[in-house]
Amino acid sequence: MSDLALEVRELRKTYKTVGGTQEALRGLDLSVRKGQVYGYVGPNGAGKSTSIKILLGLVRPDSGTALVMGHPAGSVEARRLLGYLPEVAVYHEFMGAEELLVLHAALAGVSASDRLSRCRTALEMVGLGSRMKSRIREFSKGMKQRFGIAQALVADPPLLVLDELTSGLDPIAQLELKELILSLKERGITIFFSSHMMSEVETVCDSIGIIHQGKLRAEGTLQDLLSIENRVAIHFRGPTDELAELNPQPAKAGEQVITVEQAGTDAALDRIRQAGGSILTVAPAKRHLEDVLHQLVTAGEAA
Ligand SMILES: Nc1ncnc2c1ncn2[C@@H]1O[C@H](COP(=O)(O)OP(=O)(O)OP(=O)(O)O)[C@@H](O)[C@H]1O
Ligand SMILES: [Mg+2]
Repeated sequence: MSDLALEVRELRKTYKTVGGTQEALRGLDLSVRKGQVYGYVGPNGAGKSTSIKILLGLVRPDSGTALVMGHPAGSVEARRLLGYLPEVAVYHEFMGAEELLVLHAALAGVSASDRLSRCRTALEMVGLGSRMKSRIREFSKGMKQRFGIAQALVADPPLLVLDELTSGLDPIAQLELKELILSLKERGITIFFSSHMMSEVETVCDSIGIIHQGKLRAEGTLQDLLSIENRVAIHFRGPTDELAELNPQPAKAGEQVITVEQAGTDAALDRIRQAGGSILTVAPAKRHLEDVLHQLVTAGEAA
């Protein structure tokens, strides 16, 4: 049996629009291994939601294949194994949170005897334990988002597909969500989520895929994507004028940072000390995910 939770090959989709067509996916490939937390990132309009909707069976691709836990996307078997948080969710506003979640649980096939306890657990997991009886209309935007996450979790599926996971959440809720994701991962659940919050993605994901203009532009572990081969970052405090040729950049709290080729580390450390500087840390140079994304997007546009 395949160890892939999601397997997408050569997916193509062109939408019909008013007066024309819009190409959304241009041969998309994705591989998400079981047990991974996979961050799916890309600029607005890159094709993230389109591909996610195809995985759910909500949009039909023009060509290509999409498998969910080895089953064709959209099949009953695939849907049964998957919990989904839509990018924009519309709920029955007049219903109570618990009441509506019980309905979702029933639709997701949770047995009648387990329904209420599963719903309460899911609402507690997302921090809505004290608001189970509130009507959806009484919820703030972030609370609705939390409800959506509870809805995705309610049937305890082995795979979660979450579109715009962090949308509308305050910083504390984001931290709690991070812990929730890590605890779900510990239970062996595969989590595939899109987000525009690069710091979220950097801290919880094992693997990342970057999509731009309907195609995967990079895929790999965080380390693969963020490390810059053979370069070292030296953080130091001290004079910068004498070290101008090393191109020091301001870092946090009055520190400076320079990045050099690994082979030049000793020489750079000597130069900093000679100039009266004090070395704070020496570590492999890393980029931020924003930088990688920006580079890929601008390269794609130039091409
Ligand atoms: N129903 C639709 N009809 C026509 N065009 C569509 C439709 N849905 C999406 N598109 C187009 O397909 C492309 C990809 O859109 P998609 O929603 O998949 O992007 P996304 O990566 O999810 O973006 P965002 O980060 O803004 O959510 C865009 O050019 C968009 O205009
Ligand atoms: Mg989207």
